[in-house]
Amino acid sequence: MKKILFATVIALCLCGCGHTRQGLSFNPHDGVEGELTMPDGEVVKYTAYEHLYYVRNVEDTAYQYLNVYVPEGATKTTPILLRTYIGGYMAAKARKPQAGDATGRALKEGYVVVIPGSRGRNSMQDNVYTGRAPKGLLDLKAAIRYLRLFDRTMPGNAERIIIDGTSAGGAMSALVGATGNHPAYDAMLSDMGAAKEKDDVYAAICFCPITDLEHADMAYEWLFNGTSSRQRSAQLLPISNQLKEQFSNYINDLKLKDWDGKEVTADNYMDLLRRELIRSAQTAKNAGADISDTLGFAFSQETMGGMPPINGGKKSVLPMMQPPQPQRGEYVIGLDMQRYLNYVAGTQPLKTAPAFDTKGVLGQPASAENELFGGTDGSSTNFTVYSAYKNGKDLPKEVVDNVYLMNPMNFIVVKDSEGSKTKKTEKHSVAQHWYIRHGARDRDTGFPVPLNLALKLNEAGYNVNFLLAWNRPHSGDYALDELFAWMKSIM
Ligand code: DHB
Repeated sequence: MKKILFATVIALCLCGCGHTRQGLSFNPHDGVEGELTMPDGEVVKYTAYEHLYYVRNVEDTAYQYLNVYVPEGATKTTPILLRTYIGGYMAAKARKPQAGDATGRALKEGYVVVIPGSRGRNSMQDNVYTGRAPKGLLDLKAAIRYLRLFDRTMPGNAERIIIDGTSAGGAMSALVGATGNHPAYDAMLSDMGAAKEKDDVYAAICFCPITDLEHADMAYEWLFNGTSSRQRSAQLLPISNQLKEQFSNYINDLKLKDWDGKEVTADNYMDLLRRELIRSAQTAKNAGADISDTLGFAFSQETMGGMPPINGGKKSVLPMMQPPQPQRGEYVIGLDMQRYLNYVAGTQPLKTAPAFDTKGVLGQPASAENELFGGTDGSSTNFTVYSAYKNGKDLPKEVVDNVYLMNPMNFIVVKDSEGSKTKKTEKHSVAQHWYIRHGARDRDTGFPVPLNLALKLNEAGYNVNFLLAWNRPHSGDYALDELFAWMKSIM
C-alpha cells in the first residue's frame, strides 16, 4: 500500500505536481523574490511568477503571457489588481510593477498584481499581424481565465479581480468589465487554447477610455464643432457639421438617463456636460485648487445647491508672502461652455475630422483605429458607415462584427430599454463596480464617450464612480490616494 502511494506521489510530481491543467501550467514553487523601491523610499518585497503563458496555442511568444507579483502577507483571498499597459491599441508587454503607478501602489497596499502582455495592432510574427481586433481583448480574457484556472494554487482571489487601464487600455478595461463570460467570444477563445473558465471581473478602472469607436467621431465633432479651430477650418468644418448632426440622432436613440433619472437628449446634453464640468471644478476647488477666471466659470458666495466648500466656507489661511487674493465666491455656479471648449482645444490642438475613422476622408491617412480593425496583412480599414461612405464603400461584415465586439456599450444591458442592442444571456456577467475618469482637458476623445459609458452602467444598476478629473490631460493612474480608497470601499 505504501509503495503504491509513493508511486502515485512520484507520478503526480513528474507531471508537474498537478501544476498543469488543460495544457496550461503554474507552479507555486517557482516564485522568485524581488523588491520595488517606492517614491518615498519604502522597499516593498514580493514574490514574482513571470512568463506564464495563458493560452495553449501561443501565436505570439512576445506577448501572450502574464506576470504575477505577490506581496508579503498576501493570501488566497487577497484581491488582484490586473493592470494592462495597452496604449494606442498597440501590443503591450507583460512588464514588472512600476513604483510610480497603480501597480507599485497596489503591491505596497498588499494587493496581488498581475500584468498581462497582449497582442495589438502592431504585433507581428512571420509577416502576419497577430493583434488586429479583437485579439488584444481576447488575450486579456484568456489571461483572466488562466487566473481562474489556477485560483486554488495561486495567491490572490480570481473572484476579486480589478482591471485597470488607460486610454486604449481604459477601453480594454471597459470591454473586459462589460463582456464577462459573453458567448460571443467563446469560439475564438477556444481556438486560442484559452482555459475553459469564466472571464468576468469584479471591478473595472477606466482612465480616459478611447471607446465606443463607431460613435466617437460624432461625439467629437458635436463637442468641438463650435471651437474657433474647427470654425476656422474651411476644410474640416463641413465634415464636422455632418458628424455633429449624427451625434444628435445617436444620443436621442440611446435614451440614456442622467444621474437623477432624467432622460438625456441632444437638447439637454450640453447642459449635462456643463454640470459635470462644474462638479469637476468644484471638487478641485474644495481641495484647494485655484481656478483661473479665464476658463469661463462663474463663481458665487451662494450655493446653487452644489457641493459644500472646504473649511465650511471659511477662507483658507494663505502663506504670508502671497498677495491678497481677490474676493471670489466659493461656489462654482456656471460655465460658458464655448469658452471652456476653446480653452481645452488651446491646451492641445484638436484631432482632425473625423478624429478616429480618418482613413481616406479628405485624402487623410489611416489612424490607429483604422489599423486596429485592419487585416492580418497589415492593411487598415474604415470602420464607420460615415467614413466608408465618404470613400464610396460599404463596411464588410467582418469589420462590422469586430466593431461590435470592441464596443462595451453593446454589452451593458439596461432592462426594458430600447437603447440595449444585446439581450442578456445567462452566462454574461458585467463587473459590479466601475471607476471611470476622464481628464477635464483631455481632447483625445469627446467627453460624451466616457460619460455615456458611465450613465449606461449606472442605469443598468452597476456601482459607478465617475468624474471629469480637474485639469487632467489624457493620462491615467493619477490621484492614487482616491483610487485606492475607492478600491478599499468596494471590497
Ligand atoms: C490612445 C490615444 C488616442 O488618441 C487614440 O485615438 C487611441 C489610443 C492611447 O493613448 O492609448
